[in-house]
Amino acid sequence: MSAPNTQGGSPVSTVALKLVMAGSGLALAAFVLQHMVGNLQVFQGRETYNAYAEFMQGLGGIKWAARAGLLGVIGLHIVSSIALTRRNKMARPESYSALKNRKTGLPALLMLEAGIVVLLFVVYHLAHFTLGVVHADAGFDLVDGSRRDLYNHFIRSFSPERWPVVLAYLVANVALAAHLSHGIQSTFKTLGIAVGRWRKPLELVGPAFGLLILLGNCAMPLAVLSGALAEESSQHSPTADTQGADPTTAKEAESR
Ligand code: HEM
Repeated sequence: MSAPNTQGGSPVSTVALKLVMAGSGLALAAFVLQHMVGNLQVFQGRETYNAYAEFMQGLGGIKWAARAGLLGVIGLHIVSSIALTRRNKMARPESYSALKNRKTGLPALLMLEAGIVVLLFVVYHLAHFTLGVVHADAGFDLVDGSRRDLYNHFIRSFSPERWPVVLAYLVANVALAAHLSHGIQSTFKTLGIAVGRWRKPLELVGPAFGLLILLGNCAMPLAVLSGALAEESSQHSPTADTQGADPTTAKEAESR
């Protein structure tokens, strides 16, 4: 009896799909690391953090190319994961409960669920910090001279009275850490490099990376919640508020 055709008539091979999923996953992990390292500058204070944010926003064409690239990579990751899940089901029509009984860790079992949580978080997160559609009263419009005061917006967003926002960020980052932990482990297997004496050390990279992202990303909202990070006012203008700010400047900041 011949093996079932798990490609379902598709011209794309399963190996190619796995490589797309692995490559896009690694690119997204690199973005998450870079984003966390950049954001950790919030611990260096308002001037440093706002200067970093301004530098990133001032990248013009590069910024838009990076955004388009990021969107494309997210799309590839989602499409390849859906296609691979369908092929796996065709090749092995085994029930979910049977899979659960196997010796598999929780992150491995909940890859899809964790991925969906992360995706929903990204939509919420963009609505929060990039578009100012949610929690705008936390200071999305704060303008200091010619630029948006992201530092104080950040602090107000995670202040104790906004503990549900902090909770949402913590939950999302637990899901992200679990997804990264297992995803990176699987990627090394897919690429065929987790073999022989490299198997054990490479198996640790995913969980270590997930833990690093979890600690770094959770440290920021928790530092604000605990009062370790607090609002700072401008040295040049006593209030970092929209009061008296040039309305065109405020509009420019909003368009970010
Ligand atoms: C506690 C953790 C995080 C904090 C404090 C944080 C903070 C921020 C801030 C302040 C911005 C706005 C930057 C600006 O307007 O100049 C931003 C943008 C963004 N964040 Fe996060 N972030 C966190 C985690 C994440 C995670 C886990 C992801 C993805 C999985 C992510 C994806 C993005 C994206 C895609 C943008 C838009 C970048 C752009 O404007 O092109 N963030 N983040």
